[in-house]
Amino acid sequence: MLQKRERGWWKKAVIYQIYPKSFQDTNGDGIGDLPGILQHLDYLAELGIDAIWLCPVYASPQVDNGYDIADYEDIWPVLGTMEDMENLIREADRRGIGIIMDLVLNHTSNQHRWFQAACTSRDSPYHDYYVWRDGTPDTPPNDMMACFGGSMWTWEPHVQQWYFHQFAPEQPDLNWDSPAVRQELYHMIRFWVDKGVAGFRLDVIDQIAKDPDRKITGNGPKLHAYLRELSREAFREEGLVSVGEAWGADPERARLYSAPDGSELSMVFQFQHICLDNAPGGEKWDVIPLKLTDLKRCLSRWQTELHGCGWNSLFWNNHDLPRIVSRWGDDRRYRVESAKMLAILLYGLEGTPYLYQGEELAMTNIQLPIDQYQDVELLNLYRDRIAAGYPEEDVMRSIWARGRDNARTPMQWNAGPNAGFTEGTPWLPVNPNYREINAEAALADPNSVFHCYQKLIALRKRYPVFQDGTFTLLEPDSESLFVYTRETADELLLVVCNFTGNPEPYSLPDAFQRAELLLSNYTTHTDILQPYEARLYRKEEYHAI
Ligand code: GLC
Ligand code: CA
Repeated sequence: MLQKRERGWWKKAVIYQIYPKSFQDTNGDGIGDLPGILQHLDYLAELGIDAIWLCPVYASPQVDNGYDIADYEDIWPVLGTMEDMENLIREADRRGIGIIMDLVLNHTSNQHRWFQAACTSRDSPYHDYYVWRDGTPDTPPNDMMACFGGSMWTWEPHVQQWYFHQFAPEQPDLNWDSPAVRQELYHMIRFWVDKGVAGFRLDVIDQIAKDPDRKITGNGPKLHAYLRELSREAFREEGLVSVGEAWGADPERARLYSAPDGSELSMVFQFQHICLDNAPGGEKWDVIPLKLTDLKRCLSRWQTELHGCGWNSLFWNNHDLPRIVSRWGDDRRYRVESAKMLAILLYGLEGTPYLYQGEELAMTNIQLPIDQYQDVELLNLYRDRIAAGYPEEDVMRSIWARGRDNARTPMQWNAGPNAGFTEGTPWLPVNPNYREINAEAALADPNSVFHCYQKLIALRKRYPVFQDGTFTLLEPDSESLFVYTRETADELLLVVCNFTGNPEPYSLPDAFQRAELLLSNYTTHTDILQPYEARLYRKEEYHAI
């Protein structure tokens, strides 16, 4: 019997994200697998996490590393078997760790039997599971461009129609306007609930209610009605967590997604704080300089506008984003200091914190030649930009800054061959810095980034102010310091971070002169903050003066 989770457990939880292909290989094929995750459950328990968000492990032709699902109720054989999966759920549960499945409900693989049947005839009952438009093979229904390049429409000669896909042509969009599709998906979700999973992460959930005739992809008019139905029909269990990935969410929409009455999802996973350095117009490949005041304004807004009426995810990284220490931190001279600073800053906020594999080691971005990359988005970008006449160096610079493979290089477990990830040839190269940056070294060093996260996780569980405290931004106009407080009736927190590689003067507010320093990334503290210095103070029985 698996443990029962109480309602709202996820508000106190920390979630660790695993990208299975890159976590641990156990059979020498160079690809991480389910038994590999099993091997490291004790490591995760030691870190103190409550749940694992497991990126897709379903049967898939792997055009988009599993985000193209061919069978929702089967495991990709390269990762293992359903028995391995059940074993993982059970063994994780024994350590108090829940498994959150990654559900791709917006699209399937073109190898899914529904799509295969849909393509055979317009009369197939599965035809309506996807989004089709009539036309002629030379002119797509409109000029919508897919997230991974090319048109959002692909011609299917068997039925003489175009089908719609927001991502690769191998990822046809499901038609959420079909009640049969929705019921089929709810049924499939119950399959996983019955296996004892702790919840679900819902891939690009804001894109399910599309309306191509009006060129609507995100935030379609029926989106929230669909989410309420999904919640009612599939997430009946009180203890299940549901996390909605929503690139298009702002605080106002997030209050709907994560309404405290549970009518939609538990929490939103949104990207406004991540997209601040996208070029105007939102192009992620054309990076503009980061500005600390933008980050502060953005994070503060989410803190205040969701407090008491919604719930946010706290993250810097995932499998789609470059490594944070290479972005807001300094991945060379102050790699350890800046990674800890970013951890302390984020984990002091309200919301559910996430940790993406390797973030606890402060793993960094990688720069590879183009022929060593694997990601479909990155390779299409390269092809399209070179064809459009962009200089090669510029394209590579974009890829090194933003390519998704930055986050997908294998986990660095030790200083041995291939960082202990595989005895074969890794499917994506290991970052050559693994001799210095690896889990074994981090575990042996009491001052490692790993141990900083371990302490933060323990602190969040110990003091209620982390969960409930109201947020106040201090020093709003500083371009070097990020300072804020959290406050409840009987606790007060102060987080002070120097976001630069230079010393910065700072004096503590009077109320904190005798506060306890819970955590810092330096051992000595003066009125001058050291490069990337971070401090977390706490005071009890605070009474406003
Ligand atoms: C999400 C996933 C990403 C995937 C895309 C299409 O954004 O996180 O990895 O490529 O959806 O499923
Ligand atoms: Ca393997």
